[in-house]
Amino acid sequence: MLARMLTHTFVGVEARSVEVEAHLQRGVPSFTIVGLADRACQEAKERVRSGIASAQLDWPMRRITVNLAPADLRKEGPGFDLPIALAIIAASGQVPAERLVGHSALGELALDGRVRPVGGVIVAAEAGRRAGCTRMLLPVEAAPEAVIAGIEPVPVRDLAEAVAYLRGEWEPSPVGAVTLVEREPQPDLADVRGNERARRALEIAAAGRHNLLLAGPPGTGKTMLARRLPGVLPPLTLAEAIEVTRIHSVAGILPPGRPLVGAPPFRAPHHGASTAAVIGGGAGPRPGEASLAHHGVLLLDELPEFARPTIEALRQPLEDGTVAISRVGGRAVFPARFQLVATMNLCPCGGRGDPAAECTCSAQRLALFRDRLSRALLDRIDLIVAVPRIRAVDLAAPPGEPSAAVCARVVAARGRLQVDAAGLDTPAAALLDRAVDRLPLSGRGRARVLRVAATIAALAGSSRIHAEHVAEALSYRMPRELEAG
Ligand SMILES: Nc1ncnc2c1ncn2[C@@H]1O[C@H](COP(=O)(O)OP(=O)(O)OP(=O)(O)O)[C@@H](O)[C@H]1O
Ligand SMILES: [Mg+2]
Ligand SMILES: [Zn+2]
Repeated sequence: MLARMLTHTFVGVEARSVEVEAHLQRGVPSFTIVGLADRACQEAKERVRSGIASAQLDWPMRRITVNLAPADLRKEGPGFDLPIALAIIAASGQVPAERLVGHSALGELALDGRVRPVGGVIVAAEAGRRAGCTRMLLPVEAAPEAVIAGIEPVPVRDLAEAVAYLRGEWEPSPVGAVTLVEREPQPDLADVRGNERARRALEIAAAGRHNLLLAGPPGTGKTMLARRLPGVLPPLTLAEAIEVTRIHSVAGILPPGRPLVGAPPFRAPHHGASTAAVIGGGAGPRPGEASLAHHGVLLLDELPEFARPTIEALRQPLEDGTVAISRVGGRAVFPARFQLVATMNLCPCGGRGDPAAECTCSAQRLALFRDRLSRALLDRIDLIVAVPRIRAVDLAAPPGEPSAAVCARVVAARGRLQVDAAGLDTPAAALLDRAVDRLPLSGRGRARVLRVAATIAALAGSSRIHAEHVAEALSYRMPRELEAG
């Protein structure tokens, strides 16, 4: 006897459909899973066996072969438990096999038959829809993800409930439409005293999605400022939210009760994180922090502390918004269109740039420190700001402007940037030409200055880029404190 159930596996942040075929034959009772199943899939055997027993169903005393097709596709993860169990139950005639048609299933089984949450349901449901399915049996927590993907969810608490549904004895209650959840409270810019120049750069960065580096002595508020960038960014559009949700779902980091990520993601990996953790890779391969920050912010706090290969590997996503990972049998491409915010001291001891302290670094140590920051990376950072030590009068000043006011200007500027590409007036063009020769600016550098100038013009409500906008954009190139010497 034979029964088939559709399920899905993941290749990077995409899902592919997999057919689970359960075949029952006479002979010495056994249970085999074939078809390039990884270890987690092999472990499914124990969970499926005990799940079926817990649901008060019969374990068929037959030679059971479960085939996962197509055979050349690597099958990953624990989500196969539920479809394998259902295919065996159907093959042994305990539910009508024809009821499985038009359905797919994904879910891990606990030993007592409970269906546990799994990642990636939104992309799995999309794959199900492409394969012609209309309904999906899945863990209760993941039901809204199927709704987003246009599949009718059949959320099941345990295997017994899934069987009751397939026997036509139970129908799930409908799951309502999914809405974008308001963002959680964020740290506010009002907490930051003084630092006017860095605040201004943060606003420009937010409006134009520019990369930002804050450099200065310890304790000047660099980390504080960087963590306040997400709070001045506009919410995601629905299309962006779905893209981010797909990645976070596959990575298994969707917070419970928030199926659709509405706020720009904020990721801040520790500088000790491996290159694979930051960029992506490993078995699977899995998306890294750069992809988890897609449409949001990637904060690299203490940039020079990150391993040089990690920093180098960020060049590609900074350029084209993707991460390509070579793997056996081809390349996986992950979306990674993030905005980079980085912080750093001006030297290893932190004394540099601080009038109240003395730099005690040797020339050699300083050279090594600078060497870690490749020119190529700095060239991709649009705004570099020296954050000076804050003065006592500034600390005693009243609170700064709150994030909400800044965000309103950012939203207005984004709107302006969308409608028309502002042109340079003649003095602005002349200033930019002079800078290209004098600084000098690379072709990429010039293009980046031009983009920043356009953002500054948009923030000023101007439809033309004037010389003052170009001048301000140029002022955020390499600051003196970071130059050699
Ligand atoms: N401009 C500021 N306004 C208000 N508080 C500030 C400011 N700068 C620093 N502080 C206070 O100092 C603390 C340390 O700031 P923060 O961690 O942002 O410094 P940092 O520049 O990142 O230093 P480091 O280089 O050591 O990482 C903050 O938590 C805050 O309490
Ligand atoms: Mg810091
Ligand atoms: Zn120093």
